[in-house]
Amino acid sequence: MADESKKWVLMVTAQTPTNIAVIKYWGKRDESLILAVNDSISVTLDPEHLCTTTTVAVSPSFDQDRMWLNGKEFPLSGGRYQRCLKELRSRASDVEVEKKGIKITKKDWENLHVHIASYNNFPTAAGLASSAAGFACLVFSLAKLMNVKEDPGKLSAIARQGSGSACRSLYGGFVKWVMGKNDNGSDSIAVQLADEKHWDDLVIVIAVVSSRQKETSSTTGMRDSIETSVLLQHRAKEVVPKRIVQMEEAIKNLDFPSFARLTCADSNQFHAVCLDTSPPIFYMNDTSHRIISCVEKWNRSEGSPQVAYTFDAGPNAVLVAKNRKAAALLLQRLLFLFPPQSDADLSSYVLGDKSILQDAGVKDMKDVEALSPPPEIKNNNPLQKYKGDISYFICTRPGRGPVLLSDESQALLNSETGFPK
Ligand code: DP6
Repeated sequence: MADESKKWVLMVTAQTPTNIAVIKYWGKRDESLILAVNDSISVTLDPEHLCTTTTVAVSPSFDQDRMWLNGKEFPLSGGRYQRCLKELRSRASDVEVEKKGIKITKKDWENLHVHIASYNNFPTAAGLASSAAGFACLVFSLAKLMNVKEDPGKLSAIARQGSGSACRSLYGGFVKWVMGKNDNGSDSIAVQLADEKHWDDLVIVIAVVSSRQKETSSTTGMRDSIETSVLLQHRAKEVVPKRIVQMEEAIKNLDFPSFARLTCADSNQFHAVCLDTSPPIFYMNDTSHRIISCVEKWNRSEGSPQVAYTFDAGPNAVLVAKNRKAAALLLQRLLFLFPPQSDADLSSYVLGDKSILQDAGVKDMKDVEALSPPPEIKNNNPLQKYKGDISYFICTRPGRGPVLLSDESQALLNSETGFPK
């Protein structure tokens, strides 16, 4: 190993996207290896709007593995972190940086400690899948630091052991997590179905729903479902295999009506499984149900789907619009039904790609107040609005997979000390 007295620090920074499942993963056949009972398919979301940035560092001066999440120290003692670290260490290779006089051999990695700092560019409290981007970024960045010579598929199998949905964040675009058959999980990996440019008409609007309720974690929820839901067994054996084939076809053919039908049906069935669990799990709330009803009515009145909805283990809606025009019309409807609190300004209510607001003809709060009711719900009298029931919207699109950030100003750890900046 290099001269200990030099106390060098070697760092890597990476950025990894989050993803939203359109065919859901719910239920494990192996809890510790995180092996799913069915395949799942997701869309990777544009990291410009939702992503995790992680810096990992190694130095002979570190006396233990440590991690900081959004600036606060976070214990790395959990089994899932330990498993990912162990898998990566066992695959590490020699690293040599002549300029800095650093030479690390494959064997050195067993004794060297790492520092990890991670930051989400979206509020963690929003209940958006942060563990997917988080574990994917941890695995991707450590693999680079440790010179792990594995393809993204193999890395996805490591990220999977941190959090199931994380394996799908190793790729951009449209991704399938193949459940696999092997007991050791070696064939339970993510594969890319199509990259983010394949279907770039799609626009994604996330409605972050106000909620005070503490939700059941996905891990606990799916454990209860596996133990008690008969519907889950039927879904995994009979329903999902057919849907996976149909969804792959729909994505390949840019067939939005099929994509939307399958996405909505699968979200609804996942929530039906939650209700079929004992005790029942309620992830959606009244606001979620109102959003579903708004989309269903509009889609029906148009004669073909304009927007698909999907909900994970929480009340937030992820809405996939077939194109920019549909996204603008969707935003008009949602802003009409769910105006922000009176003191909120529009720029902090609609985040992400704000150009959709322009398309919707909404520049400021006055425009929001002047919106007319969607024609398909005009007959509802009196027409109710639900002010403040949505915290904010994020407009985004399908996005790319993980990337390395070479600019040191983007690193979260100090390059001299290896501690958070
Ligand atoms: C509803 O990946 O968070 O978002 O594997 O226990 O960490 P663990 O669960 P997690 O579950 C995600 C469930 C879901 C559906 C999905 O993303 O496919």
